[in-house]
Amino acid sequence: MAFYITTPIYYVNAAPHLGHAYTAIAADVMARHQRQRGEDVFFLTGTDEHGEPVALAAEREGVSPQELADRNAERFRALMPQLDVSNDYFIRTTDEGHKVRVQEILQRVHDNGHVYKGMYEGWYCPRCADFKTDAEIGPDNTCPIHRIPLDREREENWFFRLSTFQEQLEQLYDGQSDFVLPKVRFNEARSFIAGGLQDVSLSRAKLNWGVPVPWDPEHVFYVWFDALLNYYTALSFAHDGTDETDKFWPADFHVIGKDILKFHAVFWPAMLLAADIPLPEHLFIHGFLLMKDASGEEHKMSKSLGNVLDPFEVMDQFGTDALRYYCFREVSFGLDGSVSTTTFGERYTSELANEYGNLASRTLNMIGRYCDGKVPDVAVEPQLAADFDGLPAEVAALLDRAEITQALDRIWARVRRLNRYVEEKAPWKLAKDPDAAAELQTTLRSLAEGLRALTVLLSPYMPESTGKLLAALGDERLELSAAEFGDGSGGGSIGELPPLFPKPQ
Ligand code: MSP
Repeated sequence: MAFYITTPIYYVNAAPHLGHAYTAIAADVMARHQRQRGEDVFFLTGTDEHGEPVALAAEREGVSPQELADRNAERFRALMPQLDVSNDYFIRTTDEGHKVRVQEILQRVHDNGHVYKGMYEGWYCPRCADFKTDAEIGPDNTCPIHRIPLDREREENWFFRLSTFQEQLEQLYDGQSDFVLPKVRFNEARSFIAGGLQDVSLSRAKLNWGVPVPWDPEHVFYVWFDALLNYYTALSFAHDGTDETDKFWPADFHVIGKDILKFHAVFWPAMLLAADIPLPEHLFIHGFLLMKDASGEEHKMSKSLGNVLDPFEVMDQFGTDALRYYCFREVSFGLDGSVSTTTFGERYTSELANEYGNLASRTLNMIGRYCDGKVPDVAVEPQLAADFDGLPAEVAALLDRAEITQALDRIWARVRRLNRYVEEKAPWKLAKDPDAAAELQTTLRSLAEGLRALTVLLSPYMPESTGKLLAALGDERLELSAAEFGDGSGGGSIGELPPLFPKPQ
């Protein structure tokens, strides 16, 4: 079965920060999990390079938009392997293959009668590239996201007849209650539609940094339609020479932040309907990572507000896995939440180093010391097995709804369960009692098995350290079925385990 998942494509007007890394890691956890289930996964990320956000940033820096795009796209591309993000392709909207397909598809939308020329007048945020509706305008005509004054725009544009899709979109939402997840965002999108849809600009006449409109080359396409189409165009040229659209479209999941809900939950399905293209299965809308600014107030982490955690610095200090773990443990995926270097350090020490890392090293040390380095070939403890029962299926069901934090919480509850088990059994005491030899064997076999089973489930979250631990446990199978407690066998030799979460530099 094919599984197709995407991240938003990132604006190249600035360097990546933790907010961008966040969405990419989330989609990666889901992609890796689906691969564990044997799905044929296509995972797409990339950069959004046209439009005002990039043209204006280039002007400020005194370089051409293409130069700025080339420089920053490289940074985003390089970020992915550093985050251990396993994307199958990295699309740039300046790719020739993308531009050609955008023109083809939007020409079809034109030929299907969904566009007309008209005059736009209203408020516009050049940073969001968004024509704001009345309800989306902050105090004194400012952008509530970027806190900058909005521009009053008046220009002749090509319009997309969004208003004519009102009924079809309502039917979509009424018929598919999990089209947008979580529910709160579904309701937000649904009420935006119910509020009445206005036609929206499809082209800009004032700008030349974009994909030219084939039937009116003085215009370029409004950047949002060019950008949204990446999810579809990439499949036609990502794998050289093979068009994989039929195999992977419609997408299973678009994972995005809540700032771009309207474009994905309203404009995008309408545009697809207009182009006779099937709709994606689900959108998952996550919240913002917040961080205190210089005055101590909490805001969305963003380059323009200057309150960003640099993912590169964090990874240097704590490692990539710790960053991946922290993002979903600290902030419930879907909600807004604060991050800070203080809580990062705390979770690193108390959870990763102590609860998980120590559990692993203790278990392996004891097997080394008391069992000659071999996992005892005895049955597992039935009581402990019962506490793991059904866990892989539970995690899979949660991840099917992109509930990344909840799934991690369930797994972590078993990390804690094993720690309690060690304390209850105190194998170091059993080792001193010749009558307890069998109990010691059962205990260590069960600990090794529990650790192995939950490590398979943790591997999409922390691919590097889980890989090391599974290797040391002598069973590197990653498929989901291997995550059943009891699926591993005793009798194998354990190997060396390097410190998984050493004291930070
Ligand atoms: N280019 C558009 C998206 C086009 S998709 C067809 C865009 N780019 S962006 O670079 O500004 O932001 C992209 C995404 O980065 C957001 O939707 C969100 O997923 C993520 N984030 C950026 N800052 C963030 C936080 N502070 N917190 C969480 N995610 C954030 O919008």
